[in-house]
Amino acid sequence: MGRVLITRCLPEGGLDPLRAHELVGPLGDDRPYTPAELRSLAPDVDAIVSLLTDTIDAETLAVGSAGRLRIVANVAVGYNNVDIEAAARYGVLVTNTPGVLDETTADTAFLLILAAARLAHTAEDDLRTGRWSGWGINQYLGRDVHGATLGIVGYGRIGRAVARRASGFGMRVLHHARGDTGEPGYVADLDSLLRAVDIVSLHTPLTPQTHHLLDARRLALLPPHAVVVNTARGPVVDERALGDALHEGRIFAAGLDVFEHEPAVHARLLSAPRTVLLPHIGSASVATRLRMATMATEAVETYLRGDRPANVVTELAV
Ligand code: GLV
Repeated sequence: MGRVLITRCLPEGGLDPLRAHELVGPLGDDRPYTPAELRSLAPDVDAIVSLLTDTIDAETLAVGSAGRLRIVANVAVGYNNVDIEAAARYGVLVTNTPGVLDETTADTAFLLILAAARLAHTAEDDLRTGRWSGWGINQYLGRDVHGATLGIVGYGRIGRAVARRASGFGMRVLHHARGDTGEPGYVADLDSLLRAVDIVSLHTPLTPQTHHLLDARRLALLPPHAVVVNTARGPVVDERALGDALHEGRIFAAGLDVFEHEPAVHARLLSAPRTVLLPHIGSASVATRLRMATMATEAVETYLRGDRPANVVTELAV
């Protein structure tokens, strides 16, 4: 029997694969463990099932691996919250949950594309607060999504799922990725893609190379009618620069599901016009969140049974 730290509440049924093991956590009220608490618990468990809100840093991995810790299963496709280089150094396997959340996250990206381009949030806000005085031909004039050129930055599973939706909307789709995909619509130079699009949607992982990928200089390459959508990770965009561009009307609108310092949202964005802000709900459907949790707990169960789990990301760092 293994000992497994569950850092926060999982969807009902998500812990089923670990039925035979001893579980530590989660805390009441879904309160996350602090980094210090994680460090002190890590040496006494074989495995941690973590969420993207948990910081699993080098120190936690060092003290954990000096004790019993051998695997961290992150319930997310992104794993920027885990220091995987340190994990590789200390021989701790790290797994993620790719594949199961692609379609749900692509749905969220499309939700933001549509809502931002068509000013849904601004219009609804007026309606709810009594500022709508009746139909007018010049009210709430957004930008058409159908027929627009969509630039997808990061062309992995989620980026491709967004591209499939876009073709149904009659959009022209361009994409940029680190390596040549060899597929129609590939643009090697990100700056050129930004100059050519009406809507840009971000789907890269957060790495040192993608931090502030969309910075003030690149935002300035977008046309003034552009819509920026981010369902990847907040720090891929320079939030202050994006807020400035929105306030100054240098781009048309934005739809954001992720933020640089969650749960804080930059004041420039909170007050920005034509901006839809969602609290990181990209993969938040009942079925997808359960699939993500189950994938992570199955990885731990597989490891504790003596087999190699799927979706190990640790080697990528070495
Ligand atoms: C969600 O943001 C994830 O990375 O799974």
